[in-house]
Amino acid sequence: MKINTSGAGISRIVQLGETLKELSLKNGKEYLPLNRGVNQVVNIDLREVVKSIDFNSPDIQVYPHGAGRPALREAINEEFFQGKSSIDNILVTAGGMHALDMVAQTVNIRKLYLPVYYWGCYLKMLTVRQVESAPYERQEDLLGMIDELQGCAVLISDPSNPLGDKHDDEEQLAIIRALNDAGVVIYYDCPYRRLWADASDDYYVRLMQLENVIITESFSKSVGLSGQRLGFIHTTNRELYHELEVRIMYNTNGINGFAQELVLRLLTTPEGKKAVRDFKERTVRDIALNIQYLKERGFLAEEFYRGTDPRGIFVIVNKSEEELLAHYIGAVSLSFFTRTLQDYAKAFSRICVSVPHDKLVTYFDTL
Ligand SMILES: Cc1ncc(COP(=O)(O)O)c(C=O)c1O
Repeated sequence: MKINTSGAGISRIVQLGETLKELSLKNGKEYLPLNRGVNQVVNIDLREVVKSIDFNSPDIQVYPHGAGRPALREAINEEFFQGKSSIDNILVTAGGMHALDMVAQTVNIRKLYLPVYYWGCYLKMLTVRQVESAPYERQEDLLGMIDELQGCAVLISDPSNPLGDKHDDEEQLAIIRALNDAGVVIYYDCPYRRLWADASDDYYVRLMQLENVIITESFSKSVGLSGQRLGFIHTTNRELYHELEVRIMYNTNGINGFAQELVLRLLTTPEGKKAVRDFKERTVRDIALNIQYLKERGFLAEEFYRGTDPRGIFVIVNKSEEELLAHYIGAVSLSFFTRTLQDYAKAFSRICVSVPHDKLVTYFDTL
């Protein structure tokens, strides 16, 4: 059998999760899995939300609409775009990774410019789709690179994975606007932003006015539903929208009806909105306490937050993966998130700070 191999490997984070399980079985110790990219402070409590779901409804049992359920797209328009966009600009996807992959395979670019520290899956996905990439150091550097960026796209991640660095909204928007006006395509992939923001946030409304900006979003992080595999793409480019709709159709035959029903209820019903609010409140509180603690104890690698704020759900600490593992903390070395600065990055690790505060303190106090 001949295989079209991509050359992309399995994620280091997944491998590390397996290693932690094996170690735990061997030595009977409980490891704190800060290597994972999921909110672990609390689960979103869905008990009240699912009560009213009619599992016999065609919305759950029959093939869904190719672009996603119109009611869900309308709810996304209300929640993320203050009702000012249109369901014709929104396509429901099977999560953020699927959204990104669809965009990566459809938009014709020479290269995708990624931050110098980037989420490893971006590169894996580009490798599978045979799209070239190049690094940029800081968002403000992009302004001086506009000639070089012609025919390319730039990925913006804020707060980013792995750094958890939040840029100033206005400064970032000015950069994105300049790129957009120069014809550079922007992939705006910021699924952590909505953990802190709600429907009153108008940033997406401002972004949607820029024709070269493609927004990819996910319900994995902001409402903690990584298991449901739901996200969306927003674009005002008709040709792109049409091609994405075709590809999503022949790639999925429609996105899971139950997940769409569930998220629709989270966005539109009183019990859904309450569940989201409670989840966000608890999560954001412990993330803030954790970052404060890491700062005070000198664990936070401040050099990665010059001109930005550490917001999580990740931050970089000045301990190596090995040092943390010796104290039963699972983390991923920062060197796995960069191709250009690997030696420098070995001394640091990315940790997930979306864990109960008392738990994080218990483990880090032993360091
Ligand atoms: C920056 C970023 N974008 C997108 C995603 C994709 O999330 P999902 O496929 O779970 O929606 C992740 C997940 O870790 C991420 O960190």
